[in-house]
Amino acid sequence: MRIEGFRYTERLGAVLLRDVQKIIELDSGMDSDQEEEARGVYKINESIIHDIQKEMVIVIPTKNEKLKLFENCISGVPNACLKIIISNSDITPLNRFELEKETLQQFCDFTRRRAIIIHQKDPIISRALQEAGYTDILDEEGIVRDGKAEGMVIGILLTKFLGKKYIGFIDADNYFPGTVLEYARAYAAGFYLSKYEQCMVRILWRYKPKIHEQGLYFKRWGRVSEITNRCLNSLISFVSGFETDVIKTGNAGEHAMAISLAESIPYASGYAIEPQELLSLFEEYGDIPHLGNHRDGFKGIEILQIETRNPHLHENKGQEHINQMLLASLGAIYHSDVCCEETKNLILEELNRQGLLRLGEEPPRPKLIKAPKEIDFEAFANIVGENLDKYIVQ
Ligand code: GDP
Ligand code: CO
Repeated sequence: MRIEGFRYTERLGAVLLRDVQKIIELDSGMDSDQEEEARGVYKINESIIHDIQKEMVIVIPTKNEKLKLFENCISGVPNACLKIIISNSDITPLNRFELEKETLQQFCDFTRRRAIIIHQKDPIISRALQEAGYTDILDEEGIVRDGKAEGMVIGILLTKFLGKKYIGFIDADNYFPGTVLEYARAYAAGFYLSKYEQCMVRILWRYKPKIHEQGLYFKRWGRVSEITNRCLNSLISFVSGFETDVIKTGNAGEHAMAISLAESIPYASGYAIEPQELLSLFEEYGDIPHLGNHRDGFKGIEILQIETRNPHLHENKGQEHINQMLLASLGAIYHSDVCCEETKNLILEELNRQGLLRLGEEPPRPKLIKAPKEIDFEAFANIVGENLDKYIVQ
């Protein structure tokens, strides 16, 4: 594949934020093809993409998505990646989880590949997390709470357990399998281009099509992401003293990390997780004067943002879902120790304008989930190791 090189980098302490890099060509020919070297553009050979994908797990969080969309999604994941599905779908009245398992089984029969599927509330996983002291994602009964983030964190722990190097997340509510393939290729390209081991790749969709009276309209920005990005950029601008618009993927559900990075950041519950990943990195490594988090000699953490060619079409979950997502995202920014008064005011104005907060109210504080590396991993691994067979489909 062919992709733009780095154009512009914003730095916050040890955190390097790379501006968006566009995919120029999805397939750039055979590895052996000789050609004149282009400027400012990288050709990434298929063998490199394949080698990285062999080290990569794709985690698909899912909750009651249409079976057709779930099937779309698994069919688009490159063959070399190991798929882990973390499902929070209903067991009753209709056992949707069982239907997902069947669909995956059929896929594995056809492809002769192995995959893993786990229910988020599986009692063995919950016990493993209890033993490991990971109470942040458990409810009062010791069972894993609802929430996309909670599912993602289980995915991170399993990826670490399996000894894989990279983890990428892809939502299950995707209408086009081809986009899934492109995301996984973009992740590999990002890891190849990154200069640092601690790397995160976030996807920016080229367009998000909407249906208007005149027909299809290819919208560039989703409403929530436009506002989340503006607030994150405001936060960075006031810390550095230079106005910036570098963040374009504040809500990127599609993103990937080196597992060494994924296990070392604190997360936030539910839909606040994507912006919180960035905030956690700024809080810990951003060299923010009032937090005194300066670290000498610490190697960088790199965040790449890659723009796809394919438009993204996912399930429309309605206005209430969008409102909850906006509140959770801006709540995470508002309550971050890095956030200054100016950005807090911007958030309050925005939420008041949207009618989501009354004057004098504050957005919700996200429930934080400590970094996976803080838990007793051996305790988790012992229990999961004894039971892994139950979750493997082959
Ligand atoms: P959006 O695309 O960001 O608006 O959010 P979605 O509602 O589409 O959620 C993103 C992905 O997370 C989808 O694949 C959902 O099925 C999945 N998801 C939502 N809630 C949960 C949950 O509680 N647990 C798990 N494991 N996945 C979830
Ligand atoms: Co979605």
